[in-house]
Amino acid sequence: MGPGRINKHQLFYAAILTVLAISVFYDRSVNACYEYQFCLTPLNYSGRYMKDETYGDMPDKAKMLCDGFCHHNSTLRLRCCASDATVKLERISEQVCRYNHLIRGFVIFGEIAKDNEFPFMAALGWRIKNETTGNTTIVYKCGGTIYDRGYVITAAHCLYHSSDLPVVVRPGGFALNDTEAWDLEIEEVIEHPNYEYPNVYNDIAIIRLKTIFYGNPFHDQPACLYDDPSSAHNVTAIGYGNTQFAGVSSPLLMKTNLSTIGNNECQLHYEPDSDVLSDGIISTQICAKDHEKLRDTCQGDSGGPIIKFIKPKDLNPMSLVVGITSFGIGCGTGMPSVYTRISEYIDWIENVTYRTVPI
Ligand SMILES: *[C@@H]1O[C@H](CO)[C@@H](O)[C@H](O)[C@H]1NC(C)=O
Ligand SMILES: *[C@@H]1O[C@H](CO)[C@@H](O)[C@H](O)[C@H]1NC(C)=O
Ligand SMILES: *[C@@H]1O[C@H](CO)[C@@H](O)[C@H](O)[C@H]1NC(C)=O
Ligand SMILES: *[C@@H]1O[C@H](CO)[C@@H](O)[C@H](O)[C@H]1NC(C)=O
Ligand SMILES: *[C@@H]1O[C@H](CO)[C@@H](O)[C@H](O)[C@H]1NC(C)=O
Ligand SMILES: *[C@@H]1O[C@H](CO)[C@@H](O)[C@H](O)[C@H]1NC(C)=O
Ligand SMILES: *[C@@H]1O[C@H](CO)[C@@H](O)[C@H](O)[C@H]1NC(C)=O
Ligand SMILES: *[C@@H]1O[C@H](CO)[C@@H](O)[C@H](O)[C@H]1NC(C)=O
Repeated sequence: MGPGRINKHQLFYAAILTVLAISVFYDRSVNACYEYQFCLTPLNYSGRYMKDETYGDMPDKAKMLCDGFCHHNSTLRLRCCASDATVKLERISEQVCRYNHLIRGFVIFGEIAKDNEFPFMAALGWRIKNETTGNTTIVYKCGGTIYDRGYVITAAHCLYHSSDLPVVVRPGGFALNDTEAWDLEIEEVIEHPNYEYPNVYNDIAIIRLKTIFYGNPFHDQPACLYDDPSSAHNVTAIGYGNTQFAGVSSPLLMKTNLSTIGNNECQLHYEPDSDVLSDGIISTQICAKDHEKLRDTCQGDSGGPIIKFIKPKDLNPMSLVVGITSFGIGCGTGMPSVYTRISEYIDWIENVTYRTVPI
């Protein structure tokens, strides 16, 4: 037995204490993690989540940098171990983005899966029961974006499409009828605390996956979160077009180039509405439209992203999520659609995804 290992009795009590701790302190919105996921210790040092066994084998000096916990599930608690005692200037979502886009020379393991253009694109699936046959099938009704291998960002209003919550996520940007595609089960759905259906503000939610996403090892990078609040960008909306305001219903993933516009311009198209749009278009929203007014496809799925592409020096090309498709007037009208502006929610996203809880 290595130093720091605990014996069976201690393990038993540890298990009881853990169960107690979970039942008393279990905060669903912060206890979200998987092994080796990036994390922030209570002192804001960035690290990775480790199992107790790994921690036990670490030298004492390294153990001192471990602080803060999360619960992977009801039986597995992970510990956040920092690599050094510094608060990084780069925010944690940027560190994750950089890590995911390092140029790696070779692949250590894994089969080469299909090379999709938007590997971070996800479709949210609901379980629908056929009342006649009693069989259940999965129906995909919203889009989402993988921004960390264990997490998908989507629109909160998607959670109100039916009385049930979505149960699976189809990752990888596959066509919905592609036989090579697979689904990942959903562990937890976290709606923004200030979202109030059917109000359109704070239309953002996080989905934590039960298993983490890996696809084509050369090309399965999660998308990055765009933290610039400015408004003029050429973006690409992607989606399956299978929701209300997207008119085309297709199993194929569609893309449309759009330009984001200022909120003042956008406001001209949207009357403040006392019920759902009481304050008009506000800073937590961003609008985009098709300047050519030509496209007959719609501006993506609810919950899907608008993306800006960049090619940083010394890193793989990146796709940055600028917005999440929230609502719109119609398709092919030349009218702007409204998206949840990601830059305004990064603190919340990082809080939910990377912050540990002290025990
Ligand atoms: C860590 O960062 C959070 C969010 O930025 C901040 O509220 C908190 O005070 C910081 N904690 C420490 C110990 O600096
Ligand atoms: C918790 O997660 C671990 C590792 O993924 C798994 O082996 C274990 O079966 C899970 N426990 C439960 C209760 O789901
Ligand atoms: C239920 O299953 C039957 C038999 O396969 C099929 O004809 C019917 O369209 C299904 N209903 C729905 C709502 O999918
Ligand atoms: C319904 O499920 C049964 C058993 O799982 C299967 O044999 C049958 O083919 C299914 N029916 C349809 C219409 O999918
Ligand atoms: C998927 O659907 C598209 C469009 O309906 C069709 O062209 C394609 O052949 C389908 N693919 C499979 C594998 O069924
Ligand atoms: C967007 O693309 C158009 C045409 O490709 C170009 O003229 C324009 O400068 C671009 N706008 C921005 C903000 O990059
Ligand atoms: C859409 O935008 C992408 C990325 O900016 C560009 O490469 C592509 O040529 C554009 N497509 C059209 C049809 O304008
Ligand atoms: C982060 O989450 C904690 C616990 O849920 C909460 O108290 C805090 O206000 C959150 N901070 C932000 C910036 O969302």
